[in-house]
Amino acid sequence: MPINAALLAPTAPAQSWRIGLIGFGCVGQGLYDILQQHPASSFEVARIVVKNPDKVRPLPAAQFEFEAEALLDDNTLDVLVEVIDDADAAFRLVVAALRRGRRVVTANKAMLARHLLELVDLQRAHGGTLLYEAAVCGSIPVIRTLDAYFGTEPLRQLTGILNGSSNYVLTRMGEGGTDYGPALARAQQLGFAETDPSLDMGAFDPRSKAVLLAAHAYGLFLEPEQVLNLGIEGISATDIAFAASRGEKIKVVAGLQRLLDGRVTALVTPQLVGPESPLFGVDEEFNGVVLEADFAGEQFLRGRGAGGHPTGSAVLADLAALRQGFAYHYAKTAAPPTHATDLEIEIYLRTDEPRLIDLLDFSEVSEEADEDGYVVGYVALAHLITHRDLLREHGAFIVRTGQLRPVGEAAEATEAAEAALETAGRSW
Ligand SMILES: NC(=O)c1ccc[n+]([C@@H]2O[C@H](COP(=O)([O-])OP(=O)(O)OC[C@H]3O[C@@H](n4cnc5c(N)ncnc54)[C@H](OP(=O)(O)O)[C@@H]3O)[C@@H](O)[C@H]2O)c1
Repeated sequence: MPINAALLAPTAPAQSWRIGLIGFGCVGQGLYDILQQHPASSFEVARIVVKNPDKVRPLPAAQFEFEAEALLDDNTLDVLVEVIDDADAAFRLVVAALRRGRRVVTANKAMLARHLLELVDLQRAHGGTLLYEAAVCGSIPVIRTLDAYFGTEPLRQLTGILNGSSNYVLTRMGEGGTDYGPALARAQQLGFAETDPSLDMGAFDPRSKAVLLAAHAYGLFLEPEQVLNLGIEGISATDIAFAASRGEKIKVVAGLQRLLDGRVTALVTPQLVGPESPLFGVDEEFNGVVLEADFAGEQFLRGRGAGGHPTGSAVLADLAALRQGFAYHYAKTAAPPTHATDLEIEIYLRTDEPRLIDLLDFSEVSEEADEDGYVVGYVALAHLITHRDLLREHGAFIVRTGQLRPVGEAAEATEAAEAALETAGRSW
């Protein structure tokens, strides 16, 4: 078959877009550096805004300004890139930009998770566009995959390691026998963990990301507090040994799952992960996401979840998408599912405070080891959500060890749905 020469003819170079860059830290400099190394991308950083006038910068001082608001009405800028580390200021700027109908790229997951619905409404009301691939798993293109590719297909489940810092600490503890404190100090030295590590180690950061994923995977808008987040601040060698004795690893896993009755649950907890899972091999500071779609089946994405270049790369991908006229569809928000918390979850709890065991009110206990201070069994997810701060304050360590199971009316509905599937000759 002859090749159509017109298809192979070089296309005209894209017209260069002028970027207003707000923030010149890790991500801002990462993007700037990528654009310097890759001029063919045809994006030019036209104005840069930072906060501190006294800071020494890698570029001439004349290239920096200090009033982000000044960029909002500069119509010579094609797009604003907001990559600052202050969620409240970022929200004010992004709202003001969207009210003017502007195109905006942001990486600020904490801000997005808190205000996503409002930001979606603003885009619809004023015709602006907001993209944020960099906010979840850095360089891994998971938001656009969910929104554009799986916008129509139902998803059963999404599981992911969404925080590189805690994953690095767990890898050091699992492979090197390092204690939590030194492993965390090393993560901070290498720039993987924040100076205040609680956002990463307390699973607040992956909780924000889970909120964003729930919106695109299921059309479900959640408040961050609705998502259970349990971290690894209380972990010890005993817990690592418990996992190793089963041939498994402890990973902090975000789990979004559609239940048989169609409702969706979302949580982020340490979890036992066995070699059969693609997440088992996601070590060090890497991130990974496993998607299970009804018809496509299982897919696995793995990559760098943070750092200047990987995150800058995701921002660049958003810029290119904007230039092609792309906007998120949020297709599944047209018929959103209900959020489910009336479930039980199998956990391993280690604590030296017996009252915490009473408080969680285990409905079933399968294992107890008094000498190591742990118990394994089922507890209500709602109890964990209610008591998570108390558990954290008392240094308790919890690992999810098994599946979620519905209780009460939901259990009956699940049984009925299973029977219907069996009658139809299908399996879940
Ligand atoms: N680092 C990562 O790997 C990564 C990955 C994914 C997402 N993110 C997200 O990306 C965003 C930026 O992170 P980062 O690591 O690049 O932060 P960073 O290194 O701390 O840099 C923050 C930058 O924002 C500037 N800034 C702060 N408040 C400002 C304001 N009101 N107006 C103008 N500039 C302001 C700072 O100015 P000065 O230079 O004057 O201090 C600095 O240049 C955050 O939302 C973060 O959660 C980061």
